[in-house]
Amino acid sequence: MATINSNYDRLKASYLFSEIAKRAKAFAEKHPGAKVMRLGIGNTTEALTPTVLKDLIKGVEKLGDVKTYTGYGDEQGDIRLRSALVEFYKKRRITVTPQEIFISDGAKPDTANIQSIFGQNNIVAVFDPAYPVYVDSAIIGGKKIVYMPCRKENGFIPDVPKRKVDIIYICSPNNPTGAVATKKQLEDFVDYATRNKAVIIFDAAYAEYITDKNLPKSIYEIPGGKECAIEINSFSKWAGFTGVRLGWSVVPMALVIEGTEKGKINSLWNRRQTTMFNGASNIAQVGGLAVLSKEGQKECRQLVSYYMENAKIIKSSLTKLGLKVFGGENAPYIWVKTPHNMSSWDFFDRLLNETHVVVTPGSGFGPHGEGYIRLSAFGKRADIEKAVENIKKNLKI
Ligand SMILES: Cc1ncc(COP(=O)(O)O)c(C=O)c1O
Repeated sequence: MATINSNYDRLKASYLFSEIAKRAKAFAEKHPGAKVMRLGIGNTTEALTPTVLKDLIKGVEKLGDVKTYTGYGDEQGDIRLRSALVEFYKKRRITVTPQEIFISDGAKPDTANIQSIFGQNNIVAVFDPAYPVYVDSAIIGGKKIVYMPCRKENGFIPDVPKRKVDIIYICSPNNPTGAVATKKQLEDFVDYATRNKAVIIFDAAYAEYITDKNLPKSIYEIPGGKECAIEINSFSKWAGFTGVRLGWSVVPMALVIEGTEKGKINSLWNRRQTTMFNGASNIAQVGGLAVLSKEGQKECRQLVSYYMENAKIIKSSLTKLGLKVFGGENAPYIWVKTPHNMSSWDFFDRLLNETHVVVTPGSGFGPHGEGYIRLSAFGKRADIEKAVENIKKNLKI
């Protein structure tokens, strides 16, 4: 008799984005002439950059010629791409080897799937609020969860857990709060993980949005990071690969947890990936190589600057209105306190009805997100400008 994994029934219904869509649709039907500006979702909107596009096309063409055709690729991902990532880290004075890098089809699957190589009884610590995948994958895997509250008072980067936990998710720059952990804050987490033989899963999907030289882009900038952390990254947000799909994880040989020797975690992830995943698309990997080229990186930095200019426009306009605005400086998300202690959903409705702007209610990311909304800088400039103009003109705070 087949039975279901009943942990799925313990998941909260994926209420957030469907409820947002439902309310936005109802509004559009009631006001057919109104232009609705969507500043809620973290989906990229700008085209791929020229160098990347050119090489992606070449990648497709290679498959159409028997002399250059390739099928399945190298086990952990194209060795040229992994070697380019080694160089990418070297520029940050971080040494990793190709054997420690695993190419994937994005950071989201890796942040969820990585849990499968750890014991079922492991306790998972997550920021509250957080990118929902960490919590949902822990629930599906039947693991216990500890929440680390992110408040205005701690700059939305929590202190290390007071109790003993085993797996710690850190997302910096953070989705949804836009907060970025300082070196000292990451040092505290590395120290905690080392003392407790815990593992840090460091989600660096927004690392390229950091321009402040004092803020760490990688957990491996912290001494001891290689011994306790797995880093997961993506081409989605800085190269526009949200639809192309490409990411990578670094599982250091030096990483040790309770009862393991060096290299064991790396070999487990290799086993998991080679058993259940057959590699990222060879075309996407050619695109990834183009992103990492000198010209590609230059173009992608411009792409990031474009979105960060959006963030600046949103942040400065809302601040001028007297709202309390966080993030948006080394991160593409702007985290806004609701006025007069309004609930996240009430403020969502006010913004939609009075200004035709769709945002994301902070409560959808965890209990401590209540009383906040998230705005994303990934929209088109014209929409952002219209949105802030409408907010300035029509929001009755
Ligand atoms: C923190 C974080 N990690 C990972 C992802 C997903 O990355 P990918 O597109 O590489 O799966 C997102 C997407 O919004 C995210 O916000």
